[in-house]
Amino acid sequence: MKIAIIHGQNHKGSSYHIGRLVVDQIPGEHEIKEFFLPRDLNHFCVGCYRCIENDADCPWYEQKNAIISAMEAADLLVFTTPTYCMAPSAALKSLLDLTFTMWMSHRPRGSMFRKKAVVVSASAGSSTAGATKGVAQNLFYWGVPEIYRYGARVQAKNWDSVKPKIKDKITKDTAKLARKLGKNKPPRVGIKTRFIFRMMVGMQKANWSASPIEKEYWQNQGWLGKVRPWKQA
Ligand SMILES: Cc1cc2nc3c(=O)[nH]c(=O)nc-3n(C[C@H](O)[C@H](O)[C@H](O)COP(=O)(O)O)c2cc1C
Repeated sequence: MKIAIIHGQNHKGSSYHIGRLVVDQIPGEHEIKEFFLPRDLNHFCVGCYRCIENDADCPWYEQKNAIISAMEAADLLVFTTPTYCMAPSAALKSLLDLTFTMWMSHRPRGSMFRKKAVVVSASAGSSTAGATKGVAQNLFYWGVPEIYRYGARVQAKNWDSVKPKIKDKITKDTAKLARKLGKNKPPRVGIKTRFIFRMMVGMQKANWSASPIEKEYWQNQGWLGKVRPWKQA
């Protein structure tokens, strides 16, 4: 399986190790591409909206496109982020901002509708939901049909000081998740995605899009007719 891992941090702490535990326990051989933010994408969206007309006009196109291309080629997307102020890291949020045109309301990538994804976060003691939910929601609007979230309250500042009992539980939980991800079953696009996609078809047909190139894009994909991305190879 091809796997793209996007770490919302440069350091190899608990979030990194939990993400790797998920991936390393998936049965079989895998081709893994790993990115660390902000090392591999060290800019914020400046709100220039150039990407709305042409992706390549984004001032940070080269950096972000390396990540997008790896994600497009992957079968499984893994995101890791520490819980910072009950939210994902700013570096990961920045990637999400810089890819907002990949939402179904703009120019979703057809390949996303055929992928699985996992969002992992470590916190010291609070809920990790604020970190994992936001990222998972984003992936949903990219069209990703099968998304898992895993959070761990590690009670530590780094992975080395996480107590063995907590590490054991994390290892067991992630093994279970890895078995699910390793199943050779294509993800099923749910009713909510189909419904939103249908609404977006209507929106594009009615010319309510943010830019004329969006309608052209949808037309070229065949999505304004009967073609659906989850049925394409
Ligand atoms: C800037 C910052 C904000 C944090 N915010 C929270 C928080 O809201 N809730 C929490 O439980 N821990 C918080 N922590 C602690 C980290 O989430 C915790 O140590 C986590 O295990 C770090 O993951 P990492 O090892 O992957 O960096 C924060 C730490 C930092 C540095």
